[in-house]
Amino acid sequence: MSGRFGDYEVEAPLASGGMGGVYLATDVTSGEKVALKVLDPLFANHREIVERLFSECAIATRASHPGLVAIRAAARSSDDIPYLVMEYLDGRTLASHLADGEIDLDTIVGLGAQIAAALAALHEARVVHCDVKPENLFVLTARAWGTLPQVKVIDFGVSRSLDEPARDDAAIAGTPAYMAPEQWKGRPCPASDVYSLGCVLYELLTGEPPFDGSLPKLMQAHLEQRPARPSWLRAGLPIDVERIVMRALAKEPAMRPTMAELACELGDIVEAMAATTTMPMALAV
Ligand SMILES: Nc1ncnc2c1ncn2[C@@H]1O[C@H](COP(=O)(O)OP(=O)(O)OP(=O)(O)O)[C@@H](O)[C@H]1O
Ligand SMILES: [Mg+2]
Repeated sequence: MSGRFGDYEVEAPLASGGMGGVYLATDVTSGEKVALKVLDPLFANHREIVERLFSECAIATRASHPGLVAIRAAARSSDDIPYLVMEYLDGRTLASHLADGEIDLDTIVGLGAQIAAALAALHEARVVHCDVKPENLFVLTARAWGTLPQVKVIDFGVSRSLDEPARDDAAIAGTPAYMAPEQWKGRPCPASDVYSLGCVLYELLTGEPPFDGSLPKLMQAHLEQRPARPSWLRAGLPIDVERIVMRALAKEPAMRPTMAELACELGDIVEAMAATTTMPMALAV
């Protein structure tokens, strides 16, 4: 992909997916860098897919928070290709950091607190993300020495507004390894994001999400099985961290903390840890 999209000149590809790609581009008037999410021309006239892309912009404008990627516009190019204009994020996904190996506990809890605060703002705007997973959490490169890396929630591609009827394709939306029991039944709610974040924290702590296996096995496990305690898989894990993760993974949505409670509790642990450590938080960039 090259060329011009409205006021934006494409510079380089950042990522590609089944529906299109994400590109680094420059605003020709201001010189500012942006990220463009461009639909594959094959789908340019597919109504549902175009609506889903454009709804990402509508959703992002409902909730503004430093932990949520800003989506500035949805438009069509002169060739009629639909695209989104996003703030450009310089960094790597949490999935890519996970692939590097074990992440230290302070960083995990700090990232968790930030993600929960961002998702709490999304829930406040009556939107459920529906696809919280390491690939959709982006860790920024730039940060002051000794402070926590900053993280942003991206990809509202399957998010649902609680004020609008579910789309036809919404029932199966999500990523199996991170999907809450009620999401498997096509009934996602804000607590489903809490469960998914519980799965992400579990993976950050132990190296693996709580369950794996074939699709039917995964479904059965998310619906019925209690995950192995993370402290069995990671030595020295404080009990309060384990408790929060296990509460987020409760099968019953009402038994989980709300996202705002999760943000608060993780924030308290970050503060308690900071009071007892002199080491800077680290995560390779
Ligand atoms: N604003 C951004 N700045 C820099 N890179 C980004 C940005 N948004 C997305 N990316 C990169 O592009 C990848 C894909 O983006 P995203 O998750 O939004 O799309 P997707 O998974 O293809 O979408 P969908 O599942 O909705 O089709 C991300 O994992 C990330 O590496
Ligand atoms: Mg994605």
